[in-house]
Amino acid sequence: MATNQTFTMIKPDAVQDNHIGAITQMIEADGFRIVSLKKTRLTLERAGQFYAVHKDRPFYKDLVAYMSSGPIVAMILEKENAVADFRKLIGATNPAQAEEGTIRKKFAKSVEANAVHGSDSDENAQIEGDFFFAVDERF
Ligand code: PPS
Repeated sequence: MATNQTFTMIKPDAVQDNHIGAITQMIEADGFRIVSLKKTRLTLERAGQFYAVHKDRPFYKDLVAYMSSGPIVAMILEKENAVADFRKLIGATNPAQAEEGTIRKKFAKSVEANAVHGSDSDENAQIEGDFFFAVDERF
């Protein structure tokens, strides 16, 4: 994946609450192009693998259970400065600290059910995109 790409998931709470359209609209309105998009459900094992970097943190078990509790929408997004710009668009991890106009301010319910994931580096964007999408699923 080129460095002008990032990876996101719309998390189970936001999918359950019918916010897929509103969130993808905010993403496109902010200048991102959707390169890949898939609605899927992570097994407990796959969610554990995806979040393995957090395996020693106290919330790991809850996070993995939550992320496998229902379908998610995975996307690769493209824009110049994608990782940083997308982190700005989604807002702080804890919605209580998220700024007005951000996706989490609008849709997140808690630090766990916080509507969307966004990669934190170019390297992780590459790893996370590869976790969900084959070469022939990127356009
Ligand atoms: S980050 O993205 O690394 O800056 O944020 P961080 O605070 O380290 O959180 C990493 C992911 O863990 C989730 N999280 C939690 N889940 C459940 N309970 C608690 N208390 C909690 N705290 C953080 C947070 O939503 C991040 O998920 P992703 O999918 O990476 O956004």
